[in-house]
Amino acid sequence: MWRRATQIAVIMTTLTVGASVAGDGAGAGSSTVGSSGLGDRFFPLGGNGGYDVLDYDVSGRWEPARSNLVATTHIKAVATQDLTQFDLDLRGFDVQSVEVNDRPVRFSRSGQELTLKLNKALRNRDRFTVDVAYRGQPQPVIDPDGSSEGWLPTSDGITALGEPQGSPGWFPSNDYPTDKATFSVEMTVPKNLTVVSNGLPGRSQRNGPLTTYTWTENKPMATYLATLAIGPFTMSTARTSAGIPVINAIDPALAADSAAAVARIPEMVDWLTTVYGPYPFDSVGAIVVDAPDVGYALETQERPTFTWAPDDLTMVHELAHQWVGDSVSISSWPEMWLNEGFAGYTEWMWTEHDGGQTAQQSFDDAYGSLPADDAFWTQPIGPGTLPDASVLFSNQVYLRGAMTLHALRNLVGDDAFFRILRTWTTSNRYGNVSTAQFVSLAERISHRSLDDFFSTWLDTPAKPAL
Ligand code: ARG
Ligand code: ZN
Repeated sequence: MWRRATQIAVIMTTLTVGASVAGDGAGAGSSTVGSSGLGDRFFPLGGNGGYDVLDYDVSGRWEPARSNLVATTHIKAVATQDLTQFDLDLRGFDVQSVEVNDRPVRFSRSGQELTLKLNKALRNRDRFTVDVAYRGQPQPVIDPDGSSEGWLPTSDGITALGEPQGSPGWFPSNDYPTDKATFSVEMTVPKNLTVVSNGLPGRSQRNGPLTTYTWTENKPMATYLATLAIGPFTMSTARTSAGIPVINAIDPALAADSAAAVARIPEMVDWLTTVYGPYPFDSVGAIVVDAPDVGYALETQERPTFTWAPDDLTMVHELAHQWVGDSVSISSWPEMWLNEGFAGYTEWMWTEHDGGQTAQQSFDDAYGSLPADDAFWTQPIGPGTLPDASVLFSNQVYLRGAMTLHALRNLVGDDAFFRILRTWTTSNRYGNVSTAQFVSLAERISHRSLDDFFSTWLDTPAKPAL
């Protein structure tokens, strides 16, 4: 969620449609070259073709005095075609060596593509490992909306954030939401610092002036949700009423201002469970770092990251994403309203649950404050009509997305609406989804034809009538 609601939406007058993969070998059915991208309309080079990653294991050391990362990423994958060559996504760094199945392979770099040329071809369905050794000063990745991601400095450490394309700024990956994998990290840092990541902590080990930390994410995770934070954290723990461990890492400078929202995590997860079904992961918690210039919070899996002291709404927004975004993930970036519209609408539902104004009042405020001639309505948010990557996190995606859900609720009634939400999250758990799937689920549960409704709310550059 954004810190300020004043981002400038860039309205494009022409739409880019149907971008296709530019990678070598794409579309050539018999090629043994994995494509260099998956052809996303906004990020055509994000991800790669020819294989599916099962697990990442990033291990390394961080030298804060020199801002230097020395790391090896070990990848377990399975080929989805015969392969003589394939790519990983990696941004920056000097690559020392690349091995496939423990044998060195030739590699080359071009932009975000790290291309591996195999000595021995892989056959479709072969399992294989890749080890990439790399080092250097991580550089931030600048997004089409001007914000920074990747391995970012905080006032007293670093935070690694990856939506939509920052994860290759700290580990080589198949960087696309459809290739989920388990993930673990082992990071060595000076002993005054603590390392936090997704999932559950392993043992930490002191060795003279250094400490090594390990964390493991055992549930499938999209690369953009991987995180790592290094700083002088204060750790705290709690449990939800269902027994889910809550593990928080808070920058001491922000402890007082974060305390109220952090204390409500168990209660929020309990309530979210009543809306979206059982919590999908092994643990939960918050990472609060001091990096206000980043300007956004991120739903990093199991442990969302806040770059300033969060308030309740920001907290419940990022926790909602654990169901809508992290467990149920979009199948391509232009589907973003399925993440942000849902998390945004959850804020309205939470406010009502928490004794504030009703979701209807929140809808009325938003709808009423945006007259039909407001430029807000000229930008649609549907996967085929969202104009370009610079508006991926625009106010429209969040707010028009939330309004769409409330309008749906008013149309189909509470009973069907909450069944739709819950079926959505439970039947798509750990999967990837599209708007077309949401429309057909909503139609099935409500017994209505909803094509016109969704095209009005998502795809029409005009204020929908009520
Ligand atoms: N998904 C984040 C949220 O909870 C926002 C991420 C914004 N990222 C960016 N690169 N602009 O709203
Ligand atoms: Zn969000």
